[in-house]
Amino acid sequence: MDVLVVGGTGFIGQHLCRELDERGHAVTALSRSPGDATLPDGVETVSGDVTDYESIESAFEGQDAVYYLVALSPLFKPDGGDTMHERIHLGGTENSVQAAEEHGVERFVQLSALGADPDGDTHYIRSKGRAEQVVTQSSLDWTIFRPSVVFGEGGEFVSFTKRLKGMFAPGVPLYPLPGGGKQTTFQPIWVGDLVPMLVDSIESDAHVGETYEIGGPEVLTLRDVTNQVYEAEGRSVSIVPLPMPLAKVGLSVLGSIGFPMGTDQYRSLKFDNSPSANEIDAFGVSSDSLTTLSGYLRG
Ligand SMILES: NC(=O)c1ccc[n+]([C@@H]2O[C@H](COP(=O)([O-])OP(=O)(O)OC[C@H]3O[C@@H](n4cnc5c(N)ncnc54)[C@H](OP(=O)(O)O)[C@@H]3O)[C@@H](O)[C@H]2O)c1
Repeated sequence: MDVLVVGGTGFIGQHLCRELDERGHAVTALSRSPGDATLPDGVETVSGDVTDYESIESAFEGQDAVYYLVALSPLFKPDGGDTMHERIHLGGTENSVQAAEEHGVERFVQLSALGADPDGDTHYIRSKGRAEQVVTQSSLDWTIFRPSVVFGEGGEFVSFTKRLKGMFAPGVPLYPLPGGGKQTTFQPIWVGDLVPMLVDSIESDAHVGETYEIGGPEVLTLRDVTNQVYEAEGRSVSIVPLPMPLAKVGLSVLGSIGFPMGTDQYRSLKFDNSPSANEIDAFGVSSDSLTTLSGYLRG
């Protein structure tokens, strides 16, 4: 198939382009600065900005399937303020769906997020929910994935936990986690386990019109993740419970002085990032075949 990966030079995008290329698809990756990416020789690149319809439209011509992977990180506050979520998640999806419809693309795969909800608590979750509506109301044969947090080479989840260190008490060998790191659960999935499912989704009609919640083999708290990251480096860390109301103040202040976290990130730490039912079985995958975070960290 001819496949366009919008956001194909990012973390998941690069792994996805490689898997598509290895399976014999003709792949084009689109982003604003595609020259910076490390992609297989067979993958073509094209430059465009999803907020500017004219700049992306021609890339959809002749494609059989499109993946939409452009998003802002839920972990860090976006440059340009909270309206960026609407512009990138919603506006970018609208432009891509319109271009796909106008150029006769059949399959459209949207990378969304757990909890995506037009009436949700954060700008991130609301814009993801509204973007899903654009996809499901389109004339395209769509599939939506809502993965939990994804880890692997090039990902930011592991480095995020390290960046929290010293945020509230610089220079002190303690690691304050909001709520002691116990409140929020994650079900991290390795990018190498996720991308084969993403490719499978366009290779069978069975996945048309489906929304899949996908997670890894273990449910972990932020405290578990932090401990595993430090243990893998042969170090230990003292985790100090930081009450959530204090974390809110801390994150807001840090946001205002330039550390890239704000109230959206505080709110996102309050709800779980685990699927209600892990739908990996739709791809013939079982939980015990998946890579654990600790297994990945130990190499
Ligand atoms: N990573 C996770 O843990 C995770 C978890 C759940 C869901 N997801 C979803 O999976 C998708 C991919 O995530 P990711 O972590 O791979 O993201 P990422 O590494 O931040 O990659 C984003 C990609 O989008 C491109 N891009 C950004 N702004 C653009 C614009 N205005 N126009 C065109 N291209 C633009 C970037 O390249 P340029 O900067 O060169 O434009 C890059 O190729 C997202 O939808 C995300 O919400 C990710």
